[in-house]
Amino acid sequence: MTEAKITALGVYAPEKVVDNDYFTSFLDTNDEWIQTRTGIKTRRYAGPEEFTSDLCLGAAKNLIEQNGADLKDVDFIIVATITGDHTVPSIASQMQSKLGIENAGSVDIAGACAGFVYAIILAKGLVSSGMYKKVLVFGSECLTKFTDFTDRTSCILFGDGAGAALIEASEKTNILQFVSGTDGTGGKELYLTNMRDNINGVQVKVNNKIVQNGRAVFKWAVQTIINKTGELLENAGLTVDDIDWMVPHSANMRILEAISQGTKIPMEKILESVSEYGNTSSASIPLALGKGIKDGKVKKGDKLLMIGFGGGLTYAGVIIEW
Ligand code: UT7
Repeated sequence: MTEAKITALGVYAPEKVVDNDYFTSFLDTNDEWIQTRTGIKTRRYAGPEEFTSDLCLGAAKNLIEQNGADLKDVDFIIVATITGDHTVPSIASQMQSKLGIENAGSVDIAGACAGFVYAIILAKGLVSSGMYKKVLVFGSECLTKFTDFTDRTSCILFGDGAGAALIEASEKTNILQFVSGTDGTGGKELYLTNMRDNINGVQVKVNNKIVQNGRAVFKWAVQTIINKTGELLENAGLTVDDIDWMVPHSANMRILEAISQGTKIPMEKILESVSEYGNTSSASIPLALGKGIKDGKVKKGDKLLMIGFGGGLTYAGVIIEW
């Protein structure tokens, strides 16, 4: 029987580093508030001519460099993004040509901050069903192109970045368990819209900018992720002690601390990217994992629990043996 295995990871963040003091010239905020309430010290901003597909390309190059991977025979590409350069053509189809992959199916998915994990789950399904042999997935965002810089509660959060992973056919899987779910009634708490002015019957702004009820999302995220982590572990027949590294979506350090407290997975075992890169939505989990690998923390055979959450409201988690 064919199984699906994650075999490689690549990451990329744009060069421009933006610290918290940057915001004080045009907003009533300060470094102390931002660090205390979010844990963010810096984030990266894409240049004016740099877009989500460019960040994907950076992550793909890093994946090749770090793993010696060959992408020429990739037969399906999934890009998880909510901030594509454009809606059509898809960013996945742009990656087919940018990477010179001769023939691959391609599609973008809008799983928001859970998007990268959703892409892995979908890729696992495509490969383990025998439909495809090598699927390239991305989580990539240029959130700062859709940031409302007049809203001090959200603009200080976001950064740009990308991650890429390869899921290949193998005799043995290393994607041990998965979970996903949605509370669509919470869609009004976090949105980016240019098409209609109500979500779930609630009037919203149509301004092509990210709008978020931070407090509501915070509360939902903590409770949901604690519960779903328990479910994931139980279904996998594992306990928290079996997990070497937890990689939740890096939205806010206080959310990670609350998750740590609720799941009893110590903060020392949580990989994060929010302090250095800010909230990068679908890129935050691969960026955190990439840092963990680079720092020599994540070792071959380690059990990782990755779990994303965000706009939808939606969540997706996987347990992987690295
Ligand atoms: O990635 C997708 C999922 N998204 C998330 O998980 C985001 C979840 N939410 C959050 O990360 C947090 O809710 C925020 C960081 C967005 C906000 O933190 P908070 O602790 O929930 O703050 P708050 O919204 O309750 O605001 C507390 C106070 C308010 O002042 P008052 O009403 O108490 O006087 C805000 O106006 O902090 C004020 N405030 C700020 N002050 C200085 C809000 N933003 C700022 C700011 N600088 N940038």
